[in-house]
Amino acid sequence: MRTVLYPGSFDPVTVGHMDIITRAAARFERVYVAIVHNPEKQTSAFSAEERAALLKAATGHLKNVEIRTHTGLLVDMAGALGVDAVVRGIRTAADMDSEIQMARLNRQIADVETVFLAAAPQMVHISASYVRDIGRFGGNLQGLVPDAVLPQIAETLKNQKG
Ligand code: PNS
Repeated sequence: MRTVLYPGSFDPVTVGHMDIITRAAARFERVYVAIVHNPEKQTSAFSAEERAALLKAATGHLKNVEIRTHTGLLVDMAGALGVDAVVRGIRTAADMDSEIQMARLNRQIADVETVFLAAAPQMVHISASYVRDIGRFGGNLQGLVPDAVLPQIAETLKNQKG
């Protein structure tokens, strides 16, 4: 297995995402990180372009990582890129339930396999949705998002308060 695709909303990138990206980059030749977005969904805190810029800044030191954006079915992107598998991180039993359902559907409709990485124990409580909450009320985001992009994330979220 050489090339993998790590998809997600990344709204915004967290240290939990970085843990999965770093570990995948150490084990696979190429890691595509895809911001999969629905342009009709107006609820995101960051635009797809902003999310891509944050991910590029946070992963610039990982030379085999490439950031992409995608609208539509994940399996279509996996097919177009010719990846060997999709990678997803699992934090909790609740993640496991929904991730296995998605993995089974992706395999049934397009024979796309999913490889799961168990989130590091110190990351299991971190989620992008809580990062958005904390940031909007001016809370401390240190240790929750990558240091390299903390100021941009904090600034954007603070301006969305109320
Ligand atoms: O970071 P998230 O929100 O957990 O990522 C979920 C994501 C974007 C990977 C998932 O919703 C997805 O693959 N969406 C694309 C549409 C699709 O393929 N849906 C069918 C899934 S079986």
